[in-house]
Amino acid sequence: MRIRRCAVVYLEPREDAGFALASLLAGQAGIQRRLRWLALAPHLQGEIEIEIDADERELLGQLSPGAWVEAEPWQAQHGPVLARLLDSGLVTGDDERHAGHRERDEALRAAHWWPPAALAHRLARWQGLDSAAAMDASELSTAADIRRQLGPPPAHTVERAQPSQRLPLPRLPDGEFERLLARRATCRNFDPARALPYDLFVRMLQRVFAAQAQVRIQDDTIFLKKHTPSGGGLHATEAYLIVRNVEGVAPGLYHYHPTDHALEPMAPPAMGLAQFASRALAGQHWFADAHAMTVLTPRYARSFWKYRRHAKAYRALVLDSGHLSQTLYLSATELGLGAFVTSAINEIDIEQAFGLDPLVEGPLAICGFGWRGEHMRTSEFDPTEEVWNKKPKNP
Ligand SMILES: Cc1cc2nc3c(=O)[nH]c(=O)nc-3n(C[C@H](O)[C@H](O)[C@H](O)COP(=O)(O)O)c2cc1C
Repeated sequence: MRIRRCAVVYLEPREDAGFALASLLAGQAGIQRRLRWLALAPHLQGEIEIEIDADERELLGQLSPGAWVEAEPWQAQHGPVLARLLDSGLVTGDDERHAGHRERDEALRAAHWWPPAALAHRLARWQGLDSAAAMDASELSTAADIRRQLGPPPAHTVERAQPSQRLPLPRLPDGEFERLLARRATCRNFDPARALPYDLFVRMLQRVFAAQAQVRIQDDTIFLKKHTPSGGGLHATEAYLIVRNVEGVAPGLYHYHPTDHALEPMAPPAMGLAQFASRALAGQHWFADAHAMTVLTPRYARSFWKYRRHAKAYRALVLDSGHLSQTLYLSATELGLGAFVTSAINEIDIEQAFGLDPLVEGPLAICGFGWRGEHMRTSEFDPTEEVWNKKPKNP
């Protein structure tokens, strides 16, 4: 067998501090501190933080991530230490037994991730988290709660000149577009009793996600034009759909095809659609009954084809999702619909339901849209009363 170190691994000396009754009873601080070394490796599946000892740390520093070397002399000198590193996947072997970790390591290499971005991306993913319950438990649900618990935030504006030195600008009268912008507010009260008409659903997808034109460089190299800007012009972000309540479309999971302008049905989630929507949204029940939701899912491989191991590429993909979200908000507002975006999502549950490999493509945010309900049960931010005061009555 030949071995080599995995492509990307970061070492962190971490301190865990916990309550220690014995220390308290002995008249000390009541805190027990433990320092340990963690190896963080984005190609690993499941737990990506692995505690290692000093011998493992040293050996990781001696093995090349590039060149394969015969295992035998290393086994002779570091037998049990090397065995532990091979088991954990921090070192890979070219034999059948180590195929699992090796394939993940090769997938990471092939995807051209900038290593810090790969690690941040893997560490930020949630599974089965109920963020709404967590917010309630920590009493951080309202702005007043947050102020009480955390003290005041940094000021809401910054001043870089004395008031007397400022050059005042005129307030121009509002036009149609300003009135549209003013009607945009994050919707947290959808109306589950009223289905979304098919035409409005189609119009939303066509505006936000459809290719408006194609530019063919070669038969295998095509660039799309859409209504939203995209880093490198790559339009790497896919729309996977959770359809809950749209006339003429069976509730379920879909992928949207942007050049055919078509829905591709996908297998239904094992836990049922309502529960999956809530799970995907990390327990944010105020969003879960939106009529249609789009999981914004960058195809990292398409972006990193151009931006190989590039320090800005992941950032550009995050910005792409923000731009798509704003196009979706404004498109919905113009059609008289409510919209939302959230990045508090359970990525791992979503990847499993849609069959996504997080090193190749993975969700960054969910945007949804639909009819606003009659009553505001969960608060919305509408200080100018442009939304709720002027809302037409639901038929
Ligand atoms: C990137 C991003 C993430 C957001 N995540 C959440 C979220 O997890 N839950 C939520 O209720 N609202 C979320 N929002 C909505 C914001 O809370 C909302 O935009 C803000 O309170 C201002 O209100 P407005 O959109 O009505 O102007 C998010 C907005 C953005 C841009």
